[in-house]
This record gives sequence, C-alpha cells and structure tokens, in this order.
Amino acid sequence: MRQHVNPLSQFFQLPLSLPSKNDIFSKPHYPIHLDIGSAKGEFLIELATKCPEWNFLGLEIREPLVTLCEKKRKLLELNNLKFLFCNVNVSLDEWLKDLDYGQLKRVSIQFPDPWFKRKHFKRRVLTINLLNSVAKSMSEDGEIFIQSDIFKLIESMTHTIDKSRYFNRKDLGCLELIDKNPYNVKTDRERFSLERNLPIYRVMYIRNSLLFIN
Ligand SMILES: C[S@@+](CC[C@H](N)C(=O)[O-])C[C@H]1O[C@@H](n2cnc3c(N)ncnc32)[C@H](O)[C@@H]1O
Repeated sequence: MRQHVNPLSQFFQLPLSLPSKNDIFSKPHYPIHLDIGSAKGEFLIELATKCPEWNFLGLEIREPLVTLCEKKRKLLELNNLKFLFCNVNVSLDEWLKDLDYGQLKRVSIQFPDPWFKRKHFKRRVLTINLLNSVAKSMSEDGEIFIQSDIFKLIESMTHTIDKSRYFNRKDLGCLELIDKNPYNVKTDRERFSLERNLPIYRVMYIRNSLLFIN
C-alpha cells in the first residue's frame, strides 16, 4: 500500500458524491463525530463500540485502507460507523450540507499530514475552506480536536483555526495544550509516538456563537 498520495493530483481533485447519512447509519439523526484521515480506523472502531448513541464517520484518501476498515466494521456489525474514501478538501462540503444544523458535534484531525516541508504546504488537509465547511454545519459548542507530534504542524493548524472567526480554543486556564486524548481512545499514530516518547501537541477548539456568513 502506498504510504502517501498527492491530494493535489488530478485524480484526487475530482469531487465524489458521498452517500447520505440516511444510507450509512441505522440511526441517522444521532450526533456525528467526523474523523479526518481515519487511516486504519482503529480509533473510530473502538469509539463506535463504546458510544452506541453517536454516529462516527471516518474519511480517508487512501482507498485500500477504507476497504480494510469497512471489512472490519462489517464483521463487528457496527451500524453507527462508516468509512468512506474521498479527499476531504474536495468532497466533504457537499456531504455536510445534508446534515441537520448542529448535528455535526465533533471533528478530529489527528496527526494529519505527512507534509512537513514548506514546499508541500498546499497539500495540507486543514485549510480555511475546510474549516468554513465545518463551521457552517456545527452549532455552538461543537468541537474540533487536533493533535500532532510535529510542532510546526500543530503551529500551522492552530494558526489557521485561530484566524477563523468561528472557533475559540477551549479555555484550560493558562494551559492551552491537553495532556491526553479527550476521547480516551488512542489513534495508531498516537500509540506510535507515545511508544517512542515523542512529544504530542493537542488542542481543542469549540464552535462559538457567531452565525456563519457565506
Ligand atoms: C499520518 S496519518 C494519521 C492517521 C490517524 N489519524 C492516526 O492518528 O493514526 C494521516 C492520514 O490522513 C490521510 N489524509 C491526508 N490527506 C487527506 C485528505 N485530503 N483527505 C482524506 N484523508 C487524508 C492520509 O492518507 C493518512 O492516512
């Protein structure tokens, strides 16, 4: 399996029409947690097992990983979880339009980019357009959780979110970094980093009360 794909290549720039929430979840009105760059899916599989009153969607640009995740999900008969193949920067906005306002409650973007070089900046997943799509669908108190083991990447992500008018860092007193995953479930990359004693930078943002203006 390829380690990385280039999201800017022509193939990945073609928008995909993702199936609606009614076709992928057995209880489509439940609150939604969206995990961007879900990779091998273990994080969402564990969460979906623990939280049957939530729906979970993992989006991933490497299609073979999605096929594997879907096999695991079906074996476990998890009907509150789905993995879909897409480039989130191209296909997510349309999917979100189908949700009830405020139904999207959580977005996690964890160890998202293999692109730390400056020249690859344009390939990074967290863009202002992506944030606006999320902000449009989230009501006040929805959350975005980000984590990375690369300081430059978390710095760039926080810079992008701080510029947005729709999200505020969760007030943790003087400390803005969180010391553990707030969902009590670790991702693959998180385990890898912890095993190697790499630093992990985590930040939680909360949707504020500003109405979205197009
Ligand atoms: C370093 S991995 C981290 C995976 C997982 N979140 C974890 O913490 O273990 C980043 C994942 O994001 C995916 N990804 C990168 N850009 C993407 C995009 N534009 N749309 C969807 N997935 C993307 C990659 O294919 C990769 O599987």
